[in-house]
Amino acid sequence: MNARITDIHKKDIAHALHPYTNLAAHEEQGPLVITRGEGVYVWDDQNNRYLEGLAGLWCVSLGFSEERLAKAAADQFAALPYSHTFAHRSTEPVIALSEKLIEIAPEPMTRAFFLNSGSEAIDAMIRFTWYYNNGRGLPKKKKIISRKRGYHGVTVAGGSLTAIPLMQNDFDLPLERMIHTDPAGYYRYGQSGESEEAFASRLADNLEQLIINEGPDTVAAFVAEPVMGAGGVMLPPATYFEKIQVVLDKYDVLMVADEVICGFGRTGNMWGSQTYDIRPDMVTCAKQLSSGYLPISALMISDKVYEVLKAQSRKHGALGMGYTYGGHPVSCAVALETLKIYEERDTVGHVRSVAPRFQERLAQLGSSTLVGEARGVGLIGALELVMDKNSAKQYPAEVKAGATLVARAQARGLIVRALPGDVIGICPPLIITETQIDELFDSLAEAVSETEGLLRRAA
Ligand SMILES: Cc1ncc(COP(=O)(O)O)c(C=O)c1O
Repeated sequence: MNARITDIHKKDIAHALHPYTNLAAHEEQGPLVITRGEGVYVWDDQNNRYLEGLAGLWCVSLGFSEERLAKAAADQFAALPYSHTFAHRSTEPVIALSEKLIEIAPEPMTRAFFLNSGSEAIDAMIRFTWYYNNGRGLPKKKKIISRKRGYHGVTVAGGSLTAIPLMQNDFDLPLERMIHTDPAGYYRYGQSGESEEAFASRLADNLEQLIINEGPDTVAAFVAEPVMGAGGVMLPPATYFEKIQVVLDKYDVLMVADEVICGFGRTGNMWGSQTYDIRPDMVTCAKQLSSGYLPISALMISDKVYEVLKAQSRKHGALGMGYTYGGHPVSCAVALETLKIYEERDTVGHVRSVAPRFQERLAQLGSSTLVGEARGVGLIGALELVMDKNSAKQYPAEVKAGATLVARAQARGLIVRALPGDVIGICPPLIITETQIDELFDSLAEAVSETEGLLRRAA
């Protein structure tokens, strides 16, 4: 057992079940127990400081010590710690937050529906899509298309759209009705000699063929992250969404933008949909909606969807679903304060001003022989690790190249994340300064060269 393991670690090992964790390895190595945070930094229970290079799980946009959010929560707890939105009930925070989200939505949306997590927002999107097409008299039109390596959460339905083997194998997923098309990663999936535009055309053609093969009268919606996050930070190739949307329009397929990571400034615009000219019919968002301080997500729907839902609820007597904690007043108050802070401090403008430094330092790491591609936009980036740079061949999974790099970074006080396909994800709090960006990449550069040495020696 690891020498660092203390009593509290033993209790964690004995009682806590950790998601996305090798449970057997956890019994050996124990947890990293985070005890406090300030700005872009967090500390563990041994008082080691880390720069949080993934903003928790892509969410803590305002850093780990924003007092205004703590106060917004405390004030709302004092005023009204709980109420709900079932059966015509509402609260002031729900009303104000809905109004604000509809005002800033990337495309005209007419209603916001609140839930507790990105997964639930996706799940509600699926339900509403089915309800919508039943309401339109199209009961066969139910299939939902996502992309391989897309991440859309872990509910049984959302986890069927999350097309990553680790998250489906032996969980008996995906469910029927959930189908998958190509991931939009040019570096790994583009063919030799193929331009980005030609790659985008091929993907749009493949999508069209898939819809034709399935039967256009059976395909209801296409869901995509503007930048594919947890599946490996893949940016859409030039002209991709433009071409995809032509296909969706042709076959009456809804476009759903999953903005759970990209929403609220991450890509240098308020929405990833704005960065990539996406015209969604529905939008899911979460994470940076409350800077991760409290669980909250939202599904926004356009008028064309809303009108059918309204007719359906009239027919059935009510919109037959809802969550006890959906639109929790304290979560909504914190989200509202988060959006106020973004506006007052021009957080999107800040992202734009520091992103060039972030992207420049990221790109420099692309010269390492271990890095096949360094890619990013705004304040999100990734390094895709390879064994051979010319062929883009990857290390065998058992080498754990990504995990090795993450461990080397952590030993230097930097938290980054290993994603599927030996991709290292970098996604710091949006409040990060240029000096802190340099600190992040100085540590990451050292970790890359140390990992390079370790892996080359082992080879
Ligand atoms: C794009 C996207 N959609 C959905 C989800 C699921 O969100 P949650 O973990 O809050 O359920 C995530 C989580 O990372 C995500 O990145």
